[in-house]
Amino acid sequence: MDIIKKKIGIVGGGQLGKMMILEAKRLGFFVAVLDPSEDCPAHSVCDLLIVGDLKDPKGYYELSKHVDVITYEWENINASTLESLENEGHVIYPSVKTLKTVQNKKLQKTALFTNNIPVPRFSPVAGINEIQEYGKPGNFGYPLMLKTTTGGYDGKGNALIRNAGEIETAYIQLGSGQKELMVEEYINFTKEISILACRGIDGKKVIYPVAENTHENSILDTTVVPADIDSATSEKATDIANKVMTVFEGVGTFCVEMFVTGPGDIFVNEVAPRPHNSGHYTIEGCFANQFENHIRAIAGLPFGDTNMMIPAVVMINLLGVSDGTARLLGLEKAYLDPYVHVHLYGKSKSKKGRKMEHFTVVGATVEDTTRRARDLKSILRIIGE
Ligand SMILES: Nc1ncnc2c1ncn2[C@@H]1O[C@H](COP(=O)(O)OP(=O)(O)O)[C@@H](O)[C@H]1O
Ligand SMILES: [Mg+2]
Repeated sequence: MDIIKKKIGIVGGGQLGKMMILEAKRLGFFVAVLDPSEDCPAHSVCDLLIVGDLKDPKGYYELSKHVDVITYEWENINASTLESLENEGHVIYPSVKTLKTVQNKKLQKTALFTNNIPVPRFSPVAGINEIQEYGKPGNFGYPLMLKTTTGGYDGKGNALIRNAGEIETAYIQLGSGQKELMVEEYINFTKEISILACRGIDGKKVIYPVAENTHENSILDTTVVPADIDSATSEKATDIANKVMTVFEGVGTFCVEMFVTGPGDIFVNEVAPRPHNSGHYTIEGCFANQFENHIRAIAGLPFGDTNMMIPAVVMINLLGVSDGTARLLGLEKAYLDPYVHVHLYGKSKSKKGRKMEHFTVVGATVEDTTRRARDLKSILRIIGE
């Protein structure tokens, strides 16, 4: 088949889907999207929007009728329907086997651990008594992380337990055992970093520079590139990301989130089988961005270069300040700095804490770029009216 005529289907039409489409359209691919919302961010840029619940098989079957290859912007989707489609001969990247492993944090960490990739110690737990056992000195101890194995994002499936007295609240917060739970040793990290990596159908890989991430209330707030780590740590992290891509045999862009400790140890926190918020910096920062390489990967095309085009990039997420019809404030003022790019996702409704947009600033040094980005954070705001 003529590669450009290839039709791409994306499960999920949020901002990640939208940014994938913008790259796919550059090459003229037809793109269909499945999303529950008629005015999802992708709706304005896709060729076909199928409105359907992401749990319901119906939309997936409809999507599959229109496309040659299916990908996804989000991992909390209906893997068993995708599996049936794959068994019927539909092409899905990353594969459903990869998706099923990655979408469950226990299976994901087990796969990493058995392949000698460093992860925090972890264990599935059935109830409060077992959590108590893991909190004891000599075991994982406190603080202890409790996580749902599936469905978590932006910290929503996690609870930090600081002492035995907090176990019950954490257990109730995460659904009182309705969902499968696991505990994890708490890593007293000095930095959180992530690496985007992309693997082709032929197994060839490209790896992006290390990004340094700061979270606020478990939601990514800032990404700074290059990360403030020494070259040995950077090489170690890159090596780990490379190995992760081999373990999952993923096709497409993946994100590997890692913790770095004081002595320079690295632990993989989690892997996302898709482009990631912490890779948005690649749009203005790198020769070929994470979305472009994802599209190239699933279309069987060679990759674009992942190196930085400029010395420093800072990305900041902007969350809705209040609820209501979304209104962006401060754009004219922000654009007085010609090295600023604002990415509005096109969500018509603002909600307090909802990811509405991000912006990047590029510059000659991390210090100067970070300062300019910080100044903008108070100028650019999305409010609800
Ligand atoms: N074992 C851990 N030790 C220390 N901090 C952790 C641990 N696990 C998660 N965190 C913190 O919580 C954040 C969200 O956790 P993560 O498992 O990545 O959940 P999500 O799927 O919601 O992104 C991490 O970015 C990190 O800041
Ligand atoms: Mg995470």
